[in-house]
Amino acid sequence: MLNRKPICGFSKTQFLFFTLVLANVVLVSSKSTIEPCSNSDSCNAMLGYTVYTELKVSEVASLFQLDPIAILTANAIDISYPDVENHILPAQLFLKIPITCSCVDGIRKSVSTHYKTRPSDTLSSIADSVYSGLVSADQIREANSISDPTVLDVGQNLVVPLPCTCFNGTDNSLPAIYLSYVVKPVDSLTAIAARYTTTITDLMNVNAMGSTSVKAGDILAVPLPACASNFPKYASDFGLIVPNGSYAISASHCVQCSCGPGSLNLYCMPASLAVSCSSMQCKNSNLMVGNYTVQQTSAGCNVTSCSYGGFVNGTIVTTLSTFLQPRCPGPQKFPPIIAPPSSVISDSIFAPSPAPQSDGVGSLTPRSSLVPVTGGSLTGLPPVSGPVGSASDACSLVNPLATFLIATLPFFSLKLIFAIL
Ligand SMILES: *[C@@H]1O[C@H](CO)[C@@H](O)[C@H](O)[C@H]1NC(C)=O
Ligand SMILES: *[C@@H]1O[C@H](CO)[C@@H](O)[C@H](O)[C@H]1NC(C)=O
Ligand SMILES: *[C@@H]1O[C@H](CO)[C@@H](O)[C@H](O)[C@H]1NC(C)=O
Ligand SMILES: *[C@@H]1O[C@H](CO)[C@@H](O)[C@H](O)[C@H]1NC(C)=O
Ligand SMILES: *[C@@H]1O[C@H](CO)[C@@H](O)[C@H](O)[C@H]1NC(C)=O
Repeated sequence: MLNRKPICGFSKTQFLFFTLVLANVVLVSSKSTIEPCSNSDSCNAMLGYTVYTELKVSEVASLFQLDPIAILTANAIDISYPDVENHILPAQLFLKIPITCSCVDGIRKSVSTHYKTRPSDTLSSIADSVYSGLVSADQIREANSISDPTVLDVGQNLVVPLPCTCFNGTDNSLPAIYLSYVVKPVDSLTAIAARYTTTITDLMNVNAMGSTSVKAGDILAVPLPACASNFPKYASDFGLIVPNGSYAISASHCVQCSCGPGSLNLYCMPASLAVSCSSMQCKNSNLMVGNYTVQQTSAGCNVTSCSYGGFVNGTIVTTLSTFLQPRCPGPQKFPPIIAPPSSVISDSIFAPSPAPQSDGVGSLTPRSSLVPVTGGSLTGLPPVSGPVGSASDACSLVNPLATFLIATLPFFSLKLIFAIL
């Protein structure tokens, strides 16, 4: 029989058709959470970015005009790995990108990103592929007053407005930093809540949603529990906030601050890459930033610590403080760091969403799609199971595109049905 495997080989027309359906869905109905603002204060925020092709760490950083170290620490990737900035990240890797969120024309957005056009770029390819759906072609067109989007000069410098929210740096009165997350075709609100250990209710409140339905291409603000700093307003790193399980680098690479896994108190210490840094010793003491001494007294544990107080005029501010605690703290624990990823466990694109019972608990989904080097580049693709059966076995490892389309077919057909109704 000649046509045993029609599912594996999509014709070009079929593929174009599905692409158009997807593009249509994204363009017509995608929503993103908008936070009105009135003051000029900015905050730290995160973008959920999917690497669109194999890219060096430094290339991802330059897409956002960021310090590569900032991207690595935000994802708890080992910065002492040899030549880590030139490490090649696999396509489809999901990364958290730290950005500054400003207030522009009354709404929160990030406007610090610029993109220099290359041959064969289109506004759609820049929006959907290079910036993984965090921006739309229309938004780039508007931000740059482009009248004819079919004519893009090579080397043109485009502003890329990106979504972000601050919400006062809190979620339910606890410190939080907000991740702008682009909903993928197989995502459900339950799965997103589980992945980020939050609840459906919280996501619905934050995003002012009337129902639990989300569509591919929607951009949600996802609160990440974080450790907040209380540096003075005149410090250049004022407002530093670090999500649980990660790090940030500050004070010209001199200080590294981490958050979690135990308490959500920001812990800063000299960075491993510190080269020429101003003194990190606390006045009138022999303690350095991050050091503490404990003394058991009858009243409890007397803890004296030297902590980082912000970067002011090129100087590292240190604060010596003493406080009594009921019990002495153990040694400082750090969030685990991972080797620079070379393959992807695609827990959000290919894997089925967790069952609804897992609402808000998050023990079923891995917290991160980042994995250390394991082997061949295909090992990260789990086999597709489900209604397609044997046909998928034959295709899944050979043709990831076909696998993707098979996995998302129910989504497309649903959309079509709704479109027809
Ligand atoms: C903003 O957060 C601060 C603590 O970080 C809190 O004291 C203040 O009440 C919050 N303001 C609003 C409007 O939620
Ligand atoms: C912080 O992360 C750790 C490890 O991932 C987790 O056990 C802990 O519950 C998290 N804390 C909060 C408040 O989410
Ligand atoms: C102080 O911190 C430095 C750097 O983190 C460390 O090498 C040193 O051992 C610490 N000293 C004390 C007394 O804890
Ligand atoms: C705690 O330790 C500091 C410095 O070692 C000392 O000055 C202070 O008197 C101690 N406080 C108590 C209550 O023991
Ligand atoms: C930083 O330095 C400038 C000029 O050297 C000075 O005017 C300013 O007051 C300093 N700021 C702080 C917070 O020390």
